[in-house]
Amino acid sequence: MNEPTQAATVAALVPAQRTPRQDGGYGAAPANLALIKYWGKRDEQLNLPLTDSLSIALSPLGTTTTLNLADGAADEVVLAGQILPPASSFARRVTAFLDLFRPPGQGYRVTTTNTVPTAAGLASSASGYAALTLALDHLYGWQLSRRDLSVLARLGSGSACRSLDAGFVWWHAGSRADGLDSYAEPLPERWPELRVGVLPLVETAKPIGSREAMRATRSQSPLFAPWPELCRANLATLRAALAARDFATFGQVAEHNALCMHATMLGAWPPIFYWRPETVAALHRLWELRRDGCAVYGTLDAGPNLKLLFPCQAEDVLRQAFPQLLILAPFGA
Ligand code: PMV
Repeated sequence: MNEPTQAATVAALVPAQRTPRQDGGYGAAPANLALIKYWGKRDEQLNLPLTDSLSIALSPLGTTTTLNLADGAADEVVLAGQILPPASSFARRVTAFLDLFRPPGQGYRVTTTNTVPTAAGLASSASGYAALTLALDHLYGWQLSRRDLSVLARLGSGSACRSLDAGFVWWHAGSRADGLDSYAEPLPERWPELRVGVLPLVETAKPIGSREAMRATRSQSPLFAPWPELCRANLATLRAALAARDFATFGQVAEHNALCMHATMLGAWPPIFYWRPETVAALHRLWELRRDGCAVYGTLDAGPNLKLLFPCQAEDVLRQAFPQLLILAPFGA
């Protein structure tokens, strides 16, 4: 049996015949916000999670990427119009991902643009690797299924497997060692009144990336043990709330899940704490508004910025309370 490696995943899914389009490949993918978080891996190399997770796509925020063949063997990575130094961590990570797919000696020119505001704290790696996977599929004419594309995008960044579809997306953790059953798919539920508010609070470099933070939390935090079971229970509750359009339960479970994720991090040593004073102030303001009857809940990823969940009826109150709020309608207005 083949070793469960990234290369084996690619060999299992990608057709051997590779005739690239001369005009290059293109991919576009939305950012996604986890409502029930992916936090903790069962396999570090393949980005296999311990539990299922559930997210919502945040179009029009996301990434567009074009992929062209370079004349030589080296890659050129252009981000927001700037050629990145090949030694930068961004370019190195892109090159390592492309290594999985490139014929010997083939370099690429990758031009990528994020429509995620840099201060918004929405991991652009998720939409980035989803867009790059789509661009590869287009360049080589693989015509892979969404499921297979999701598996491949996961190799770039775990949460990227959830960035191929619109609306609510469910990532099945899977149980196979080779990860071929660990993929995301869209849910049928739509919720046109639902709004997501992005609150750009702090624009500082993260003290620690999510990959390292997950590893440290899992291995060091005594608070991690109950986390996988909590996620399973939270997912069941959130899924039922979605089906019933029960916003209070939906918001409560999402907020609670995010806060519990951050609680597991505090239990690591040295502690991992992404919050800044602005985060705490915004959370208190949110809780105050909720006490006053506004239907609003919050969630945070591995960073200091808060995202709000609310029905469209709360828009005016929230615009006033948070003038810098960027409001998205994931299912259209
Ligand atoms: O895919 P990564 O390695 O960037 O991890 C994402 C982790 C969280 O954003 C904190 C949670 C999630 O489910 O997206």
